[in-house]
Amino acid sequence: MARKAAIIGGGVIGGGWAARFLLNGWNVSVFDPDPEAARKIGEVLANARAALPALSDIPMVAEGVLTMADTITEAVEGAEYIQESVSERLELKHRVFAQIQQSCPDALIGSSTSGFKPSELQQNAANPAMIFVAHPFNPVYLLPLAEVVPSPASDLAAIERAKEILREIGMFPLHVRKEIDAHIADRFLEAVWREALWLVKDGIATTEEIDEAIRMGFGLRWGQMGLFETYRVAGGEAGMKHFMAQFGPCLQWPWTKLTDVPEFTDELVDLIAGQSDAQSGAYSIRELERIRDGNLVGFLRALKDRNWGAGKVLREHDERRRVAYTDGTRDVAAAPMVLAHLQVLPSWIDYNGHMTESRYLFASSEVSDAFLRFIGADMDYVASGFSYYTAESHIMHKGEAKLGDRLTGSVQVLAADEKRLHIFVRIQKDGADVATIEQMLLHVDMKAGRTVAAPAAILDRLMPVAKAHAVLPRDASVGRFTGQRK
Ligand SMILES: NC(=O)c1ccc[n+]([C@@H]2O[C@H](COP(=O)([O-])OP(=O)(O)OC[C@H]3O[C@@H](n4cnc5c(N)ncnc54)[C@H](O)[C@@H]3O)[C@@H](O)[C@H]2O)c1
Repeated sequence: MARKAAIIGGGVIGGGWAARFLLNGWNVSVFDPDPEAARKIGEVLANARAALPALSDIPMVAEGVLTMADTITEAVEGAEYIQESVSERLELKHRVFAQIQQSCPDALIGSSTSGFKPSELQQNAANPAMIFVAHPFNPVYLLPLAEVVPSPASDLAAIERAKEILREIGMFPLHVRKEIDAHIADRFLEAVWREALWLVKDGIATTEEIDEAIRMGFGLRWGQMGLFETYRVAGGEAGMKHFMAQFGPCLQWPWTKLTDVPEFTDELVDLIAGQSDAQSGAYSIRELERIRDGNLVGFLRALKDRNWGAGKVLREHDERRRVAYTDGTRDVAAAPMVLAHLQVLPSWIDYNGHMTESRYLFASSEVSDAFLRFIGADMDYVASGFSYYTAESHIMHKGEAKLGDRLTGSVQVLAADEKRLHIFVRIQKDGADVATIEQMLLHVDMKAGRTVAAPAAILDRLMPVAKAHAVLPRDASVGRFTGQRK
């Protein structure tokens, strides 16, 4: 049975948490008294469905069930994990914790608070030990970081359990060892934000110029190496010590106004809001969210290819789910074997609004890659110098796929021997074929650049599937040549 998470407060952040849990197969119950909450969560969820699956290289688990609860008690009943994401007011958060702990005093309760320390959240609680900070970043369904902050009163075993749950839903729990206002990451953001406010107020730069200064340069560096690793590289061969000697003294020059904040006069607020409208007012917030998500997916995929930073977290998340996929319990005789769940993403469609031609091959290779991993020809195997190469493909287009459509991909093994793997991939929407792809793959020694027999470890997994599938009915289009009459 699916596990249950409760989300108390379903705004921007609560909606993001709900989406992340749901897309990772958890059932989610949300309590939020706002009559618009269900609509807002629906919109966040739609964005998440369009983005998160594009980060996964193995089939997504079946989405969990979302329910809107009428009370906190109803929401938290039977929940293994509870995430509080109500507005940033301490007395409100205290009230919510008291209500939660009335019915489940021993449940894990993470708080999304950006500013409060866990010891502040725990004040007057029935069971302070179970309340901790789990501070995420927007959009919660895409960004892996969750700062997990215990206080000295926290139950450390519970904190470890919470961190494990966060990993299971693809996050990176950063254990903040000492509680501090605003934790770690927001302290930087506040510092940068303060400096930017001065630059605008003093007429040095507009909001757009500041954003260009970030996104054309150091913002890209930060996203992949952070601060210290970037500076280490900047120090050149002489390294970090040299860098500090060179640039350290200027930190004391009177450049920065970090401790001083410009007063939020109407004039300053109007100046910033006006510049921001001029810069970005052509887009709605939902459009900006989709642009942001598409960009983040692209960055994250690049990092994933390199197994670096946040991309490493994505790979680890795939690995965890792959274990469930290749545990040998899968019924190989049940052909076709459904191995991929895909969604037609914005970047997949052509000028007609249909899935573009190259994506059919992409979808097919997602399916064949999943099958190759299933038989043990995974990335580690490729790293060892062997792989399956596609020698021939025949795509038949049988239906249409449009933006947002959910597709499944399945494999039937038509024939296999030591070197050859002949497969039939079916891409379906609502049980009907959208395309079929027949492929011949060859097992190769990449270094020698020639086909060789696959080793026993691979054949032991492949041959039982081939044998089971050999007796199954074949699609009429198997063996078809291009242009053949139907
Ligand atoms: N917005 C961000 O970028 C961000 C990032 C990380 C953390 N946070 C933190 O997340 C929390 C929520 O922020 P947000 O940006 O989602 O705010 P939000 O205003 O979008 O959402 C807050 C939600 O809480 C609901 N709420 C109010 N009282 C409630 C109650 N008694 N029970 C249940 N729900 C109630 C509101 O109806 C609203 O939908 C805050 O603690 C904030 O500091 C925000």
